[in-house]
Amino acid sequence: LTLLILWAVLGYLLGSVPFGMVLARAMNLGNLREIGSGNIGATNVLRTGSKKAAAATLLLDGGKGAAVALLARYLTGEDAAQIAGLMAFLGHCYPVWLRFRGGKGVATFLGLLLALAWPVGVACCLTWLVAALWKRMSSFAAITAAAMSTIWVILLGQGQIFLLAAILTLLVYWRHRSNIARIRAGTEPKIGQK
Ligand code: G3P
Repeated sequence: LTLLILWAVLGYLLGSVPFGMVLARAMNLGNLREIGSGNIGATNVLRTGSKKAAAATLLLDGGKGAAVALLARYLTGEDAAQIAGLMAFLGHCYPVWLRFRGGKGVATFLGLLLALAWPVGVACCLTWLVAALWKRMSSFAAITAAAMSTIWVILLGQGQIFLLAAILTLLVYWRHRSNIARIRAGTEPKIGQK
């Protein structure tokens, strides 16, 4: 149990590193809080105009969840991997450093799925891509990919992560409340739009 708690703490700490914020500051792209949605994720970093910074944010926010989950699986086991992954996601969404005002968890969610059950990860990334090409809205793509994740889990026979995928899906929806309201109102910006 001590080991699981340690992985939970490590997962949270790694997840809570807001790479988008750090990169935007380091590359002098301005304050993400005053840009677009005010979010710290890759979608909003793209609104600064820097594709490079957005891609790096996506990779790093995705990579942090994947890295800690894989490390936990390798050193301790499957339970540790899932707990570390969930905590990394929560760390990203509720980082103590930003007074718990973090991101929406999409990159971390996809990174985690790729690490813990890669067929589901690949299927969800493709779902995101198809939904994004269709509606050109990052948030719409995210909630579609999240909704499909548990279905992919079943179809691809990856039941060991069903509970985790279901919890993450609910959290992704919760974090996209304002986006969902904007999608309904027809005011959600398209990808890359300011
Ligand atoms: O990854 C977050 C995305 O789904 C929405 O971001 O900045 O448009 O609220 P944003």
